[in-house]
Amino acid sequence: MAETNIFQELIAHCKEYGYIFQSSEVYDGLAAVYDYGQNGAQLKKNIRDYWWKSMTQLNENIVGIDAAIFMHPTVWKASGHVDNFSDPMIDNKDSNKRYRVDHLIEAFAEGLAEKDGTNPNGEALLANMDALLAKDDFAGLKALIENNKMTCAVSKTSNWTDVRQFNLMFSTEFGAVADKEGDNIVYLRPETAQGIFVNFLNVQKTGRMKIPFGIAQTGKAFRNEIVARQFIFRMRDFEQMEMQFFVRPGTQKQWYEHWRDERKKWHESIGIPAEKLRFHDHAKLAHYADAALDIEFEFPFGWKELEGIHSRTDFDLSQHALYSKKKIQYFDNDLNEEGKPYGNYTPFVVETSVGLDRLFLTIMSLAYKEEKWTKEDGTEDSRVVLKIPAKIAPTKLAILPLLKKDGLPEIAKELMNECKGDFMCFYEEKDAIGKRYRRMDAVGTPFCVTIDHQTKEDDTVTIRYRDDMRQERIAISDVRKLVLEKIS
Ligand code: GAP
Repeated sequence: MAETNIFQELIAHCKEYGYIFQSSEVYDGLAAVYDYGQNGAQLKKNIRDYWWKSMTQLNENIVGIDAAIFMHPTVWKASGHVDNFSDPMIDNKDSNKRYRVDHLIEAFAEGLAEKDGTNPNGEALLANMDALLAKDDFAGLKALIENNKMTCAVSKTSNWTDVRQFNLMFSTEFGAVADKEGDNIVYLRPETAQGIFVNFLNVQKTGRMKIPFGIAQTGKAFRNEIVARQFIFRMRDFEQMEMQFFVRPGTQKQWYEHWRDERKKWHESIGIPAEKLRFHDHAKLAHYADAALDIEFEFPFGWKELEGIHSRTDFDLSQHALYSKKKIQYFDNDLNEEGKPYGNYTPFVVETSVGLDRLFLTIMSLAYKEEKWTKEDGTEDSRVVLKIPAKIAPTKLAILPLLKKDGLPEIAKELMNECKGDFMCFYEEKDAIGKRYRRMDAVGTPFCVTIDHQTKEDDTVTIRYRDDMRQERIAISDVRKLVLEKIS
């Protein structure tokens, strides 16, 4: 099946098995906003916990915080988001549909692929686009769109406006009374990072942190994305997992390379194959960065950004010092080559920033499989299975009494009580066992145990492994330990 069809199947599957629903679906939804269902919320939590643990527990010099979504409006002036957090847009005059210029050109470039999958013309076009974006050459971008006769998906015409900048921050009013001066305007944070920067001194002092050290945070971010598409890849309300690593000036390149490599290894540790990941250096650096790259993943719709690694210099801390008129510095009493303390300075920052929803989509795109095989009797069989790595799967163990009688449910409930304090279990006694196994495959549960009449005789159960459908008989007293070993 073509990759795009597989992607549509995956979206339908996410809904059918309680992973992701469209927000406010009863009112026909809200564009680019999604809700996570009972299985999705658990998977998301497991991914978040895995990230949190590897950042804050396994790195002794990284601590975590949880800052508010609302921040003082001056934060966003200081950070540059009020003036610079915008994307070049173009409108089609016939349909009034607005496009992000890079998305319009990227979609067009994808359509230039040859039959063998190579795309030299598309790549040349994208290189041209990158060069124009790097120079903020809006006239050049418009010419590129017109010369290639790119059309609007709705009107099918190429009657375009000029290219303009459009700010992506959502704003709202703070407090009950609207202020005529607009002084009570606050923004919904477009990144979690600023909550870390404004708490730099609080954390450094109260935690007695010594440079180099990091502050990690997970939480919601909001962007008024114009072309929000590809399911949960680009949303207006999403979650980030960010870590700001504070370093001595001059060492930022070494730490940038360190975190680039560490983060790629981390993605591999969560089950993403190395060949599905690659680095992409930014052609145009954000206003705060002296180096930046994306860790890209090969999604079913092509290579796209999964995580950003940014060397943010001392830009953010310096800007907050300037706007708040407070001294935001660090006293480094380590000795330099001359044997003197490094003294006071504004630390430099290396940032790792991954979208939780995007990582969720990555894991689901890898996990979703439609399998077909021929059985020993020559008949065909098939299944849809979510091969989510056991350590992050929402439910780890399904406990299935073969029959609803003969004391089997009682034994199953006893096993459930033994295990449910350690990991998520699911109990089900309805339907034939084969049907129950298929449902657990589709929902991504890595282990099923069946309690049958033999269990009553010798205290053994059948354990079935989701990925290869292998079954074996083990002692019921070993079930908890086996699952704990597999998910640790
Ligand atoms: N603090 C730096 C920062 O926010 P970014 O590259 O704009 O950098 C970081 O975003 C990550 O956040 C991206 O790599 C992506 O995974 C995720 N992200 C950004 N915009 C998103 C959106 N509209 N929907 C879902 N995830 C998004």
